[in-house]
Amino acid sequence: MPIAHPVRRKFAILVALSLSLALASACRAGAAAPGAAENQMDSPPPPPRATAPTRPVVDIELSISPSRVFHQLGDTVALRWEARDSAGRVVEGVPSKLTWPEGAEPTDEPNTFRLTRLGHQVFFLTADPDAIPPLATSALVTVVEDASDLKHRDPDLDVPFVPTAMEVVDAMLEYADVQADDIVYDLGCGDGRLFVTAAARHGAAAVGVDLDLRRIIESRQRAMDDGVTGRVRFYHADLFQTDFHEASVLLMYLLPSVNRALRPRILRNMQPGSRIVSHDFDMGDWEPDGHREVEIRELDHHVFFWIVPAWVEGIWQGEVEVEGQAVPLRLELSQQYQKAAGHLTWGEHRSEIAMAHLTGDRFEFHARVPWGDDLERVHVVGTVAEQDFSATAARAADEQREVTLPLKAQRIAAPASPSYARE
Ligand SMILES: C[S@@+](CC[C@H](N)C(=O)[O-])C[C@H]1O[C@@H](n2cnc3c(N)ncnc32)[C@H](O)[C@@H]1O
Repeated sequence: MPIAHPVRRKFAILVALSLSLALASACRAGAAAPGAAENQMDSPPPPPRATAPTRPVVDIELSISPSRVFHQLGDTVALRWEARDSAGRVVEGVPSKLTWPEGAEPTDEPNTFRLTRLGHQVFFLTADPDAIPPLATSALVTVVEDASDLKHRDPDLDVPFVPTAMEVVDAMLEYADVQADDIVYDLGCGDGRLFVTAAARHGAAAVGVDLDLRRIIESRQRAMDDGVTGRVRFYHADLFQTDFHEASVLLMYLLPSVNRALRPRILRNMQPGSRIVSHDFDMGDWEPDGHREVEIRELDHHVFFWIVPAWVEGIWQGEVEVEGQAVPLRLELSQQYQKAAGHLTWGEHRSEIAMAHLTGDRFEFHARVPWGDDLERVHVVGTVAEQDFSATAARAADEQREVTLPLKAQRIAAPASPSYARE
């Protein structure tokens, strides 16, 4: 039997082995690059690439979420999208210059596109800056397996699940300067990457809140993997029903409308000096105290930073000590987030204050006051603790603050609540 010959048998085994190795490697190559053979024959045009978002032309929110999946046609899902302007009005009409996500086709129904390739995906819908109507230049789109699945498992979310890229997670935690004594909240925590990383890398106590139980399960798994279950808490809850006043750092990756809806609660309930960091979306007319961009694969991610200001609105009365004499003071203040305006009465002299700014509980402003025989511009800087303001005044020209006058005031009248934080 020829095959029984030891040398031939060895050769046959070697041939069989190399054939199966060649076959396996061909299969691996095929798996790594499906359609590679066809591509050599006839390369299809590359899929449309999302262009790097530029600054939005106007503040328009464009969101597509699983909750807006409105019908299913076999293995095709039709998704409805919605664009809103900064006043929250729905913008009608399909914008020109819109780049559809790969695999999506617009349908005849308004603001609807059809997607045939199902499965969990995240991608961008992109509008040119000069699209009509003008839109924010990118939108996040999440598609889950199918609409019937959503009925059972998807709660009515205000924001779809889109995880923050780890580069942005690092930038957000660094911007917030998270420390071990912080209490970090992530409202809409997704798979836990933000708040669990705050606990794991920065040693903070951290809390994740999500309405989707799947996200809480993933967050818990991440905390277990990172060995920080003792430092984190999970709330399977609606972020609008969650009390987060204890947070010294609040992390958010939501949507502009959700940020704006949360704004009054942030300003009323969080302690002055607490830090807020939001991925990609701002807080309407509450200007950020800082803003950075993180570029990932030619896409700019925005990181916005705010510090909760102390509340100084109202009338304050007190005195400043000038050469051993107590000179009476009165401050009448209005406030819009971290900016204030109003008048200072110093002895008999009343003047408008300028450059009034709050950084947490630090309050500073400029005013012209009697100084010796002249009127001088002074820089007042101090700390607000509820109804007490304790500060020093120095001539604005005296940058080293060599001569400072101690100043104290108490608030004697205030509106019922911060006027800039009403619902
Ligand atoms: C864009 S993802 C952000 C996830 C995570 N914070 C991150 O940056 O990777 C938004 C998250 O908010 C959750 N969410 C949406 N509406 C919510 C609500 N009303 N209450 C709590 N969580 C909500 C979603 O389930 C989702 O996980």
